[in-house]
Amino acid sequence: MAPQIVVKTPAEIERMRRGGKVLGRILRDLAGACRPGITTDQLDQLAEQWCREEGGSPSFKGYRGYPKALCVSVNDEVVHGIPGPRELVDGDIVSLDMGVYLDGYHTDSATTVAIGEVTPAARELMRRTEESLQRAVKLVQPGRWLYDVCGAVQNHVEAHGFSVVRDLVGHGLGRKLHEPPEVPNYRPKGKGPRLLEGMTLAIEPMVNQGTSAVRVLEDRWTVVTADRKLSAHYEHTVAVTKRGVEVLTLPPED
Ligand code: MF3
Ligand code: CO
Repeated sequence: MAPQIVVKTPAEIERMRRGGKVLGRILRDLAGACRPGITTDQLDQLAEQWCREEGGSPSFKGYRGYPKALCVSVNDEVVHGIPGPRELVDGDIVSLDMGVYLDGYHTDSATTVAIGEVTPAARELMRRTEESLQRAVKLVQPGRWLYDVCGAVQNHVEAHGFSVVRDLVGHGLGRKLHEPPEVPNYRPKGKGPRLLEGMTLAIEPMVNQGTSAVRVLEDRWTVVTADRKLSAHYEHTVAVTKRGVEVLTLPPED
């Protein structure tokens, strides 16, 4: 039997909304700080500082031994890049992925940022990946079959000649960073669970320019494309509401 999906009360969603706003603002401001010459470690330090200033703690730090607050994945790195002395350079595309733990609940979000001038192909990869996330989010509502949401990501990405990573998936989250259900970026066989009001999901398309195959580097974390072509990653934490969906990880203004 499929593992039980934890449905959250309105009070729990409110806690995740607060954490999600903090996270949305951190990612927006990190994107603004990205420029040629900044190191991925500097981004990580800003992320952790801003998170703690808001009373939160970074969800990823210490998770299965992950050493940093932020994942920074450059160009052919798909996800889980570990911050370090690497400097960003003009033409890079950089995925920033972070989790915030506030008031007992996790939220999780990612965006991909262009450093200076990037190629039109890189720009299109980013755009189609972000669009695939938006399409998936728009489908979320009570009564929807989860795999219809997953299929929307795959359909959009593949229609534009890109491929979805299959080895990593989105997930439910709340008191834990990873809860049931798994949220693949392709349509598995069957329909999956039916969405219910109060479910909270991290939807996170990881999309490759070339083949979908990935491998993990010797650091045991960094996931790269097998063909070393580019990859993009966008993620939001969403809640299923009475009538539809609420994106919890937007910055306050939006
Ligand atoms: N967003 C990723 C996920 O949900 C990042 C977690 S990796 C970590 O799986 F280990 F660094 F936490
Ligand atoms: Co996630």
